[in-house]
Amino acid sequence: MTVTVVGVGGSVRPDSQSERVLHAALEGAREAGAKVRAITGADLVLPFYDPHMTERTAQAAELVEALRAADGVLIASPGYHGTVSGLVKNALDYVEDLRDDDRPYLDGRAVGCIGVAYGWQASVTTLQALRSVVHALRGWPTPLGGAVNSAETRFGPGGACEDEKVAATLRTIGRQVVEFTAQRV
Ligand SMILES: Cc1cc2nc3c(=O)[nH]c(=O)nc-3n(C[C@H](O)[C@H](O)[C@H](O)COP(=O)(O)O)c2cc1C
Repeated sequence: MTVTVVGVGGSVRPDSQSERVLHAALEGAREAGAKVRAITGADLVLPFYDPHMTERTAQAAELVEALRAADGVLIASPGYHGTVSGLVKNALDYVEDLRDDDRPYLDGRAVGCIGVAYGWQASVTTLQALRSVVHALRGWPTPLGGAVNSAETRFGPGGACEDEKVAATLRTIGRQVVEFTAQRV
């Protein structure tokens, strides 16, 4: 069975550092045999989540469907003022649309979390905030999380990174998402 891993993250600006970091982690999932898909940048510019609205924009419906079908998830958020950015949090609020599913929210799914900020403090607190959100969504944060300090480590297009230690950490997170899924089936 091919495992599907959906990556969500980045900022409005395409090819941001957090988007590149997400691709680096997705590469680890791909290497472990998963089919991967990234939902980033402009595709995350969605109306504020409204639980009382039944209509969804095409982009929002696509995000919800992708997460519904996902076996595992990776999330990379920029650290904005010490926590998850509004863009990423609003996208995660749409997981509420999965509440009545047989697998509600992110139930039973491994979720790799990565905070990316221009310093250690916000990268770590953003990682921690993401893990709290994932717990609330009934997901299983992977044992290894990622805190990337973009003041020290820069990522190139496609997630290329010269710091092999950071790159290996991100690949491991992607791999752990796939391994968790494989253990469950
Ligand atoms: C509104 C805003 C708030 C930010 N707050 C913080 C912060 O609290 N701490 C920090 O280290 N970096 C902060 N940053 C910097 C980003 O976390 C940093 O640029 C990181 O690389 C992620 O940005 P990117 O994915 O858009 O490239 C902030 C950036 C913006 C635009």
